[in-house]
Amino acid sequence: MNTHGLEAKPLNVSDIRKDFPIFSQPDGKSLYFLDSAASSQKPLQVLNAMDNYYCTTHANVHRGVYRLAEQATELYESARGKIGRFIGAPNPSREIIFTKNATESINLLSNSLSRGTLKRGDVVVLTEMEHHANLVPWLIAKEQLGIEIRYIMVDENGYLNLDNIDEVLRNAKILSITLASNVLGTINPVSQLAELAHKNGAIVIGDGAQFVPHVATNVTALGVDFLAFTGHKMLGPTGIGILWGKSALLDSLPPFMGGGDMITDVTLDGFSPNELPWKFEAGTPPIAEAIGLGAAIDYLENLGMDRIREHELELLSYGIEMLESNFGENITIHGPRNINDRGGVISFDFKDIHPHDISQILDQSGVCVRAGHHCAKPLMRHLGVAATARASFHIYNEQSDIDALIDALAKAQAFFG
Ligand SMILES: Cc1ncc(COP(=O)(O)O)c(C=O)c1O
Repeated sequence: MNTHGLEAKPLNVSDIRKDFPIFSQPDGKSLYFLDSAASSQKPLQVLNAMDNYYCTTHANVHRGVYRLAEQATELYESARGKIGRFIGAPNPSREIIFTKNATESINLLSNSLSRGTLKRGDVVVLTEMEHHANLVPWLIAKEQLGIEIRYIMVDENGYLNLDNIDEVLRNAKILSITLASNVLGTINPVSQLAELAHKNGAIVIGDGAQFVPHVATNVTALGVDFLAFTGHKMLGPTGIGILWGKSALLDSLPPFMGGGDMITDVTLDGFSPNELPWKFEAGTPPIAEAIGLGAAIDYLENLGMDRIREHELELLSYGIEMLESNFGENITIHGPRNINDRGGVISFDFKDIHPHDISQILDQSGVCVRAGHHCAKPLMRHLGVAATARASFHIYNEQSDIDALIDALAKAQAFFG
């Protein structure tokens, strides 16, 4: 069902795969790419948009008054508008900041908030399931400023334990939380938590790196004040990330980096910061990457985010069922049992075989899964493992990818006895 209560038309995966050159390489047919949570593949539409920009319209933005520079600026700024509308931003032209990735978006915030808003002893609330991108910037602030960090812990079913949430959020200045876990898949009740955090006067930051590429997103419905996400996980190029923020809050923060483009005036004694969003975009920005991300958004919107979510839920349900029915007690799948509470990632332990060995054996069958700590070391400690193997999906995956995963795991099982 989609958000209008209608049955969503299934994605035509074989047509979609024709748009992705990686699957038309000589060995592309036997490429079972199950690592989109790390980075997604790119359709021709994105590659062509970037190519076309470089071939026909490249000049630096916001500087020249000649036609080519104006056209480049127009393309760059119109990508900002598209991205803003995609997440329901009330005022895209001021509230969408281009960064390098989600990590930089969160560092921008932790850094700028540490210069004025946060003081020694202030409380920042995170969760035990955060990616390092939403942990280390705050640990740096703790080291430099002496803030206190509190955590919402994870329960045995892969959900956040909200039993003592009022206590955890009491007097918090900031709640910074992932919308969806890159390990457990858990989709967190962010709008509910944002409401509670706001009652305590806290600012709410959402890490949307694993959510925005897969689920229709509306910042107002989510109730967050800031949202960070990253282009390369949503069919866009690497080197482009987004920070969305409410303009009043962005206006109140000092710039992150200094340099060209982020000022209105500079003297030998000081500077005046530029208007939003350019106040936070020092130096020549990732122009081609922003345009590429704009094309990725067009591609996703064309398919429809509701259909994409439906497709991934089907894969998730098939994947979990196949893994459990084929390997029974030899496999442990982490995260919530109810697939409606998860994104398209399946992290698992397989017998007592190290995930790196699993990943290498699967690779011999062309199956790409991620093995490691997934930049979530505290969560690994909670799960009592050093690493997991993780299969993750996007629009170009189909049941045959999961079948290939099952066959390759059966080989691993036979090999290790
Ligand atoms: C939940 C989550 N947050 C943040 C990031 C960081 O994204 P990037 O490396 O593009 O900055 C990732 C990347 O895997 C992630 O999964």
